[in-house]
Amino acid sequence: MKLVFATNNKNKIKEVQALLPKEIQLLSLEEIGCTEDIPETSPTIEGNAIQKAEYVKQKYGYDCFADDTGLEVEALDGAPGVYSARYAGEVKSSDANINKLLKELEGEEDRSARFKTVIALHLNGELHTFTGICSGNIIFERKGLQGFGYDPVFQPEGKTLTFAEMSLREKSEISHRALATRQLIDFLTSYRPQI
Ligand code: IMP
Repeated sequence: MKLVFATNNKNKIKEVQALLPKEIQLLSLEEIGCTEDIPETSPTIEGNAIQKAEYVKQKYGYDCFADDTGLEVEALDGAPGVYSARYAGEVKSSDANINKLLKELEGEEDRSARFKTVIALHLNGELHTFTGICSGNIIFERKGLQGFGYDPVFQPEGKTLTFAEMSLREKSEISHRALATRQLIDFLTSYRPQI
């Protein structure tokens, strides 16, 4: 079975491919000739993941899975959420996004937040979604140099380190993306098509 992972990140593909049964061959967007930006215009994280998976199925005919991630901050009514990448503008600068987040939270006592990843899978005419959530708090200033995005200001619940102070392995044990990916892999590993 050939299945598109709607990304061009070769490392992500390699990681997931290594965990799947051999009968499932993952293809990147590049490998199917999809070089355009896939629209992400939904007002929800789940909607964007579904939109990307359906776009690939409709335009290229391949079964596909796609992911979308956002940071939801309690005191900001769930913002930046689906707008996490462009919170401080279309340039999509993580540094500017963190600055804006820290400013918006000035004087707020409740700094609880959560990362949410949704993976949408379009397979044999059916749509399945898998959600991974990692809860934690936004700290007051950046700590750590690893990772990306909001990692330097996000401290997962029960931990004393931010994501940016953790090794990739430590982060992957608890991260939103890893939790959603594990559900997808469990599903695909035990998948038997209906005849
Ligand atoms: P995407 O859906 O993976 O493109 O993520 C949207 C935005 O959320 C990115 O631009 C990052 O700023 C942020 N983000 C996603 N995943 C993480 C993470 O694991 N740590 C920190 N920030 C993240």
